[in-house]
Amino acid sequence: MQKRRLPLLITAATLLLTGSGLSPQTARAERLPAFGLVADIQYADKPGGVSRDYRGSLSRLEQCVTNLNAQDLDFVIQLGDAIDGYGTNRVASVRDLDSVLSVFNRLSAPKYHVAGNHCQSAGKENLLGRLGLKSFYYAFADPAAKGWRFIVLDGNDAGYGIISEEQLAWFRTALGQAQQAGEKVICFCHFPLLKAAAESNRMAKPEPVLAALDSAPCVVAWIAGHDHNGGYARRKGVHHITLRGMVEAPGSTAYARIEIAGDRLRETGFGNEPSRELPLATNAPARRLSFENGRTWPSDAGARINAHGGGLLFRDGLYYWYGEHKIEGKAGNAAHVGVHAYSSRDLTNWKDEGSALAVSDDPASDIAKECVLERPKVIYNAKTGKYVMWFHLELKGQGYGAARSGVAVADTPTGPFTYLHSERPDAGVWPVNATDEQKAALQKVDRMKGLTFSGGPNADTPKHAILARDFAGGQMARDMTLFVDDDQKAYHIFASEENSTLHISLLSDDYLSHAGKYVRVFPNRWSEAPAICKRQGRYWMITSGCTGWAPNAARAAVADSIWGPWQELGNPCAGVNPMNGCGPDKTFGGQSTYILPVQGRRDAFIALFDIWKPDNAIDGRYVWLPLRFTDAGFTITWANTWDLSVFDPAAR
Ligand code: DGJ
Repeated sequence: MQKRRLPLLITAATLLLTGSGLSPQTARAERLPAFGLVADIQYADKPGGVSRDYRGSLSRLEQCVTNLNAQDLDFVIQLGDAIDGYGTNRVASVRDLDSVLSVFNRLSAPKYHVAGNHCQSAGKENLLGRLGLKSFYYAFADPAAKGWRFIVLDGNDAGYGIISEEQLAWFRTALGQAQQAGEKVICFCHFPLLKAAAESNRMAKPEPVLAALDSAPCVVAWIAGHDHNGGYARRKGVHHITLRGMVEAPGSTAYARIEIAGDRLRETGFGNEPSRELPLATNAPARRLSFENGRTWPSDAGARINAHGGGLLFRDGLYYWYGEHKIEGKAGNAAHVGVHAYSSRDLTNWKDEGSALAVSDDPASDIAKECVLERPKVIYNAKTGKYVMWFHLELKGQGYGAARSGVAVADTPTGPFTYLHSERPDAGVWPVNATDEQKAALQKVDRMKGLTFSGGPNADTPKHAILARDFAGGQMARDMTLFVDDDQKAYHIFASEENSTLHISLLSDDYLSHAGKYVRVFPNRWSEAPAICKRQGRYWMITSGCTGWAPNAARAAVADSIWGPWQELGNPCAGVNPMNGCGPDKTFGGQSTYILPVQGRRDAFIALFDIWKPDNAIDGRYVWLPLRFTDAGFTITWANTWDLSVFDPAAR
């Protein structure tokens, strides 16, 4: 075991180095400086709720300590709220604090603490004494991390989430000294500063702190806890990392290790905490190493990825993600911009490729600005060398009545695509499984003139001959996806017949129109949001029910032929999204949009979902989860964060 070096403590009062006993020749393994982080252990000897598990935090901390001790770390820092506390009951709060420290102090690396709001219930003096601190704000250095200064701030000294003037003055001085010494600085505080890095909970008065950061280019990162859902954002070159709370990780865990590499910080997350690479060069984008479900995902340009209801295409080593570009507010549910494209090699870091298909300024165009343009999907036609996009199109000002399919084409994956036409599919063609009764209903369609239908599940629509009604003019086509089979035949799968029934329709060889063969599946099941893949010769589908923008339970299905028969397998989802409390009955708050085969990995598929935000459309979120095939079908289990290593043979 390597001999531990003593840390250099820079006290709040003096800002002088008071550490001693360091020998410059201190033995050190050949490795980069690294430290451990844990936030919001929030232990309490009391029952918790669905996603909050006070008691279990202690065993999670034990595992964390064991794991961090197995690593060669220079220090470990606890980011506040070690206990939940009991308000004015100091005795009980101190008892819990002692329980936490009895585990935490088993860490072999030097230990540091940040004060949180919940810990205050143990009483300031008790807290200082037990944490071995003279002040809740202080700075320290570590001999392993030459040229780095670590600053710990107290986010509570002038009230909940407020930093006092006195502390701010100290902070500015500490930053000034670091700046003069040519050091880089990492700040630790219980409270995040930015909404972008902590959606629900952050410092009450972040402005003066941000102003101090702005005048100190030496600051590289602000690392916090408090908002248990965690988060990340970059502002003026500073990485703002909010660690996920350990208390909010039943059945998993949440903590991290950060390595200080020459030109970057490398965060390795454990359990729910994602992994990231954070370059120190101001303009270089952070690299995401994990999927972070339910959060906004930034592109390389820094803005949030704006590709809702999307689909993916893999070509020449790159994944392309196409989706609905939404704008703010309810207005964003209509198309003001068009289809946005992004590209990626690794599925977690996305380059903004700009607009793939722009809506038209010409009010006479099918795709006039403010039409509804949803669920765009792009496929590549090997025969024509063209990229073909299909989407659900509703004409401007007609609500969801038009129910058409739009087609656009491009020579390159990022386009821009040229809009070709829109249509109601399969005019004048009966589905391969049409019954004589359905065909005979053609004689009666005149009686349906003027009737309107709700587009959601109801007992009335199935009594009417919608298929026959639309025989001449073409079938309704709303939520949709595309699928290219191994033989390069492509299929358009869409919600038809007033959303009551899915149609699977073969496309022409050039993929630009329908070939005149289709099948009705899941009749009167009101399935929306179809997504499909092929695995081991069988076809697997996910759909949702039909409840507008509101989430409902997902459905799985399987077939040996794309033409059916399709067998429903029930709801494949398991687990709860802690950000909205939605479990399988609400598909984590989302709705399916695509199933992505992961390149280069056998049997690796990712299910993509959208969490819609109809009141502020641009705020819609993405949920990507691995499909796990079982004897009975497949399952999709919620994960806050995960990465492609789940598809490694050893992980299955
Ligand atoms: C649910 C669909 O799946 C979405 O694509 C969208 O059309 C909404 N309905 C509109 O309410």
